[in-house]
Amino acid sequence: MHDSLKDFLKCPHCSGSLSISGAEYANRIIMSGRLACARCKQSFEIVRGIPRFLLGETYAGSFGFQWKRFYDVQIDAISRNKESENTFIEKTGFTSADVKGKVILDAGVGAGRFADLVARWRCKKAVGVDLSEAVETAFNNVGDRDNVDIVQADIFSLPFEKESFDIIYSIGVLHHTPDTKKAFMHLVPFLKKGGVFAIYVYSAYARKRIWIGSEILRKATPKLPVKLIYYLSALAIPVYYLYKFPLFDLWLYPLFPISRHPNWKHRWLETFDWYTPIYQWKHTYAEVYNWFKEAGFTEIEPLDYPVCMRGVKG
Ligand SMILES: C[S@@+](CC[C@H](N)C(=O)[O-])C[C@H]1O[C@@H](n2cnc3c(N)ncnc32)[C@H](O)[C@@H]1O
Repeated sequence: MHDSLKDFLKCPHCSGSLSISGAEYANRIIMSGRLACARCKQSFEIVRGIPRFLLGETYAGSFGFQWKRFYDVQIDAISRNKESENTFIEKTGFTSADVKGKVILDAGVGAGRFADLVARWRCKKAVGVDLSEAVETAFNNVGDRDNVDIVQADIFSLPFEKESFDIIYSIGVLHHTPDTKKAFMHLVPFLKKGGVFAIYVYSAYARKRIWIGSEILRKATPKLPVKLIYYLSALAIPVYYLYKFPLFDLWLYPLFPISRHPNWKHRWLETFDWYTPIYQWKHTYAEVYNWFKEAGFTEIEPLDYPVCMRGVKG
C-alpha cells in the first residue's frame, strides 16, 4: 500500500483511526507492517503490499483459485486488446473523462482488469478490494501503479472512512455474496454525496433460455473440488465447436451451457467462473432500481446490458 492510502483507512470494526508500525518499503510501497486501531486495539497486517482485514477467504475460495490460474486473461494491458475497456464502458457508462482525477472504489477487484483501466485513465486513486486471494493477483497486475492500492477486505465490513469515494463500481460481484441487496447497501455509505455508484449484477431474464441446465448442474458443481471443475470446464474449449452445429446448439447447449467466447482461454475462465461460485443470485431491473431508490439515489439510469445500473448519491 502507498502512504496515501492511510488517509482513507479506518478500523472495520469500530471506525477508529489506524496507525502504522514496522513499515518496510519497496519502491515507495509499504510491503509489510502492521495497522493498529487506536480505539479497539485490533491490528491488521500488511502482507506482500496488501493490508489484510480478513483471516480467510470464507465463501470466495473458488475466486482466489480462479484469479491465480487465469491471472492475465482479461487484463487489457497484458492481452493488448480493449476487451475489458469495452466491457467497463458497456457496464458502467463511464468514460475516461468521468474517471480522470477521481477517487474510486473497485468493489470486488478480482484480477484487477478494471483497476488497470481506471489507473490508465488517470484516476487520482483506485482502491481495489476483494475478499479472496485474488488480491495477490491484482497486486501483481496493478499494485505497482502510483494511483492504485489493493486491500483484502469484505464488502460487508469495509475498512474505510465514510464518504471517501467519488465513484464506486462493482462489476459482477454483488450477486456472488450471501445477499446482493445487503452488499449493495453496505457500499453506499462510502460514496461521497453527489458521487456515482455503478453496478452490474446477473440478470434474471435469460433464465428460461439457457440457465435451466446450468441451474441443475450448479446444484452440484460448487460443492465439487475446484480443481476438478477447473479441468472439467476446460471441456468448454472443444465443445464450443460442437455447438456450432444447429442440432447440438438447440438440444445439448441448454443442458450443458458453456461460455461461447471465441478466445479459448476466456471460454475456459468464464465457464469455470459460472460453475464454481457458492452464491449466484439473479436480479431484475425493477429490483435493482428499487435498491437505488431506497438508498436515496437520484438520476438512476438503467444501462442496456442486463442488469447494469448507475445513480448519483443524493
Ligand atoms: C466474478 S469476480 C469479478 C471480479 C471483477 N469485478 C471483474 O469483473 O473482473 C467476483 C469477485 O468478487 C469477490 N467477492 C465476492 N464476495 C465479496 C465480498 N463480500 N467482498 C469483497 N469481494 C468479494 C470475489 O472474491 C471475486 O474476486
